[in-house]
Amino acid sequence: MIYIDERKKAFFLEGENFTYAIDVSDGYLRHAYWGKKIERDDIDQLLFDHPAGYVVAIEASASGRGSLETLPQEISFFGLGDYRTSCFKATGEDGGKVFDLKYDSFELLTEKPSYSDLPMLKGGETLVVRLLDAAKRLELKLYYTVYEECGCLTRHAEITPLGGTVFLERALGFCVDLPDCGYDCITLYGKHSCEAQIDRQALGHGEFSVSSCMGISSHVHNPFMALAEKHATENAGDVYGFGLVYSGNFFLSAQTGEFGTIRVCGGINPLDFRYRLREKESFVTPEVLMTYSECGLGGMSRNFHRAIERYILKRGVPPIVANSWEATFFDFDTKKLFGFIDGLKGLNIDTFVLDDGWFGRRDSDRTSLGDWKVNTKKLIGGLEPVINKCKENGLKFGIWIEPEMISEESELYTLHPDWAVKSKFLKPRTSRNQLVLDLTRKEVLDYLKSTFYALLKNHDISYVKWDMNRPLTEFYSAGLEKENQGEFAHRYVKAVYELADYLTRSFPDIYFEGCAGGGGRFDIAMLKYFSSVWASDSCDAEERCRIQYGYSYLYPLKTVSSHVGASPAHQTSRSIPLESRCNVSAFGAFGYELRLDVLPQEEREFIADYNLFAKQLRSVLAEGELFRTENPFESKFTGFIVMNRQKTKGYGLFYQSKTSYGDGIKMIRLRGLDPKKKYSVPKFGVCAYGSTLMNMGIQHKTTNTDYQSVLYEINEAEND
Ligand code: DGJ
Repeated sequence: MIYIDERKKAFFLEGENFTYAIDVSDGYLRHAYWGKKIERDDIDQLLFDHPAGYVVAIEASASGRGSLETLPQEISFFGLGDYRTSCFKATGEDGGKVFDLKYDSFELLTEKPSYSDLPMLKGGETLVVRLLDAAKRLELKLYYTVYEECGCLTRHAEITPLGGTVFLERALGFCVDLPDCGYDCITLYGKHSCEAQIDRQALGHGEFSVSSCMGISSHVHNPFMALAEKHATENAGDVYGFGLVYSGNFFLSAQTGEFGTIRVCGGINPLDFRYRLREKESFVTPEVLMTYSECGLGGMSRNFHRAIERYILKRGVPPIVANSWEATFFDFDTKKLFGFIDGLKGLNIDTFVLDDGWFGRRDSDRTSLGDWKVNTKKLIGGLEPVINKCKENGLKFGIWIEPEMISEESELYTLHPDWAVKSKFLKPRTSRNQLVLDLTRKEVLDYLKSTFYALLKNHDISYVKWDMNRPLTEFYSAGLEKENQGEFAHRYVKAVYELADYLTRSFPDIYFEGCAGGGGRFDIAMLKYFSSVWASDSCDAEERCRIQYGYSYLYPLKTVSSHVGASPAHQTSRSIPLESRCNVSAFGAFGYELRLDVLPQEEREFIADYNLFAKQLRSVLAEGELFRTENPFESKFTGFIVMNRQKTKGYGLFYQSKTSYGDGIKMIRLRGLDPKKKYSVPKFGVCAYGSTLMNMGIQHKTTNTDYQSVLYEINEAEND
């Protein structure tokens, strides 16, 4: 709930387990407290004093103390003596860059506002705090929404010039100045085929940041950051988590200040950002989803998952798919696909997805992006015979698209070379032999809307995989005025949202999966349009354990697309038993990426049975809670448990990578059970109380073979 103490000018945002408090100090909006729930009445006693810094700039400070340099703030502006990271910087018509934003008023909205061009979590009651420049040239509104049962809140900001045009040069929509308790900073880093690796490091002096300037949220850093107390573990300790709801150039930073505070702030990457705002034109920043958990990293993730699932995620049951990419790459025709699809019969697969290579003259990645007409030389009679073949075999049909791209070798490029993103003077940079379409131009966006609308309207398509296979370069649009070029990257992302919104709204029953060369654009914002995201181009189950574990810090596992690949794996040449490949993938949006039709009969039988089982697991994954039992970044084991919310049924995965002679016995301590209820775990022949299973654990005799795993069911049993 949101409680406002008008007399003290204090605002309390309260969840079931947390308090977030703000007040007004010498006219500025002060961050007062965020953490475990406290009594409101004590707020003014407990505030930590902020001593004078070099610039004692706060007027009317009775005690003579007070400086913006030391004040814990809710938002920060450049140029008035706060020398920590500035959230906002704007330049006015006169070239002046200083705005003094002070508390003006507040408003309580019953509904959180929604913006058609910027994804945000849906929300109810929302506090809006209005700050006004002392010379009334600029207004800044800060929005706060509480998700009580999730332990989360969201924030975003809206800035409006009131006295002429300004150029906005920094737009970080949130800032929190926490007391420095010696935190570790946790982020997710990576690269293509190796996304979402966990980094945990002590915050030293200075600023630590993660960012992207690639036009996508990127494989390199995910728009996520957490601060964890030194001793915080998976199951205990204070953790603060931040996830940006944004898919473009982002910036997130944690900075230790000179007076015992840590500033965490984030939003749009200031690099190459300059937004022209005419008088009364508002600019809305991307929002951040924030959570506090006293139950360690596991608690943080469950809070995030609940908020994402309930308030932004596009609903959809992930079908079990057989995707053609790693099965055939570009090398297919109708005959080969027919053989492949016939071979899916009886395997309990839901959907066949035809990946890249079905259009134009696309036999390699050199050509045809932009020409979204079926290659009838490869697919005789078009898509219809393939769709019918799927139907004959009781399957639905899905298709791969990459709307944002254009190949130089394409009809579209011959017609509209100017539609590609390029600078006026240089040859455009290719990556994977392709260029990016300038989505900021209306005619380009209109072309994409009508082209893909027609494709989806004219065929019986139930699944779309939306790919995006290169980062942006040049960052220039011939369609924008000189003064607007610094808006390009942000406008591009907003155009992606517009296209995704248009197509997902037009076809609400189609399941959309996102992808950007694997996990290059896996962020909360994309989950508004895509029910899951292809998490990595690595299908090696060993690598996937770490990748999926990393993603699970922020994203529900059901949003993490994960397919069983061939053995040895294409990416690493590692051979892993089929059962382990299945077990690892089943804890995500499940499917296959290999020639199932040519597998030995006993493997096909195994897969047919496994898929029935995976469908049961899928229903618990759909609404259950995730508990991580073993961390692959710290050991050779990976463990997940997903329990339904009633704590009556769940599934666990235990995976071991390389073994050493004598690994012998491993105690798996279950999580998420009711300590007082009895549970049976048939795979281990155990029936015991939750308290026993969670504290003493289950004895698992590991084998001496590499890459073994066990997927076990947990069922509430009758108490004796
Ligand atoms: C990259 C994706 O991550 C792959 O799964 C596949 O769809 C290829 N693109 C196709 O070009």
